[in-house]
Amino acid sequence: MDKLVIEGGVPLSGEVSVSGAKNATLPILCASLLTAEPLAVAHVPHLHDVTTMLALLAQMGVTISTDEKLGVELAAARITGPVAPYDLVRTMRASVLVLGPLTARCGEARVSLPGGCAIGLRPVDQHIKGLQAMGAEIAIEHGYITARASRLKGARICLDLVTVTGTENLMMAATLASGATVIENAAREPEVVDLAKCLNAMGAKIQGAGSDVVMIEGVERLHGARHRVMPDRIETGTFLVAAAATGGEITLRDARPEILDAVLEKLREAGAQVTSGPDWIALKTNGALNSVSVRTAPYPAFPTDMQAQFMALNSVARGTALVTETVFENRFMHVQELKRLGADIEVEGNTAVVKGVAHLDGAGVMATDLRASASLVLAGLIARGTTTVDRVYHLDRGYERIEEKLSRLGARIKRVR
Ligand code: EPZ
Repeated sequence: MDKLVIEGGVPLSGEVSVSGAKNATLPILCASLLTAEPLAVAHVPHLHDVTTMLALLAQMGVTISTDEKLGVELAAARITGPVAPYDLVRTMRASVLVLGPLTARCGEARVSLPGGCAIGLRPVDQHIKGLQAMGAEIAIEHGYITARASRLKGARICLDLVTVTGTENLMMAATLASGATVIENAAREPEVVDLAKCLNAMGAKIQGAGSDVVMIEGVERLHGARHRVMPDRIETGTFLVAAAATGGEITLRDARPEILDAVLEKLREAGAQVTSGPDWIALKTNGALNSVSVRTAPYPAFPTDMQAQFMALNSVARGTALVTETVFENRFMHVQELKRLGADIEVEGNTAVVKGVAHLDGAGVMATDLRASASLVLAGLIARGTTTVDRVYHLDRGYERIEEKLSRLGARIKRVR
């Protein structure tokens, strides 16, 4: 298993380009199942989760070609097996995103229940409820969801809670249903909007994506299209926190500041100077940061995927911060590891009390989930001495060549096989 070895204490400085968004790419790749014609997707991040999704789609009969500029062309002319097997789904929960498209295109789907993961139970009951409302017959047996529908019917669906992939699955299913579908209490995340943009380019009729009421007018079929994936707002936020926490100065290219308001506001509150333009964000700091409390919630509130990174920042800030996680029930796995580096954090229920300390000291730590891994890398960049982060395969799922990008910003970090 690969490890990252980090010599901390270097302020990051320089310029880096943001990769395509993982959480927009994954549903957009699944959208290829909705048409027999080719879907060309550009600006695809080179990530393990993307490779896994492409393997899953290929197994169903989707022909896939990739070019050296990280473009991918997918053609689901014939779907030979509308099945997502357990061995693939258990490594990547987002595989559940094939359920809606397969049910809509093939009239049937057999998708393994994703099972829990490090950050929580993560059920898919809302995905199932929505498909049933559209007339699908759903059975859950032997760990698999089996869905059948001669043709889905438009329906009015009010989700019990805000779910990103639930909204995406149902939006994709509704594009080929007969009649109109309304999804209420829909997720407003920018990745949902990017998916809707791609689906509309394919001939879908979707309105309201980005608001909590999405309307989809079903059509007979979708056609091919070309789509460029939006930049990854969580990668953007992670690099901004890395620069702020190491007292550096950074410019991010191909970024979208308007979808990171909550994060930029918190960085300013911590004392960083943040400026931005249409497709760039710049940050610099002078001196120590102030502790800044955060409370995660669905978009546009502070994103849960940035919680661990801000916990690393707060561990060496001036004062005490409250970090409250309201989206997932077990997303504090990084706390124990940060404490090994000298952080002063006490967890009470879904709130962590983070008292800033003068410095962290390098140690061996272990990654447990994608964003926890990122917070450990950030802590390694901050700490004095050497930090070794183990099990970096978690990191490779969501960050493209992170050690290369960080090295270009001056970090002393290397991957050890
Ligand atoms: C998406 O996961 C993202 N993944 C996650 O990013 C992100 O943390 C999460 O949204 C929240 O923003 C992708 O987009 C591929 P949810 P998702 O359904 O859709 C509960 C990362 O780091 N729930 O919005 O699986 C669920 O248990 C990953 O890139 C139900 O109870 O999250 C959770 O507590 C991690 N029933 C809450 O809702 C359901 O049917 C939000 O989950 C669905 C969800």
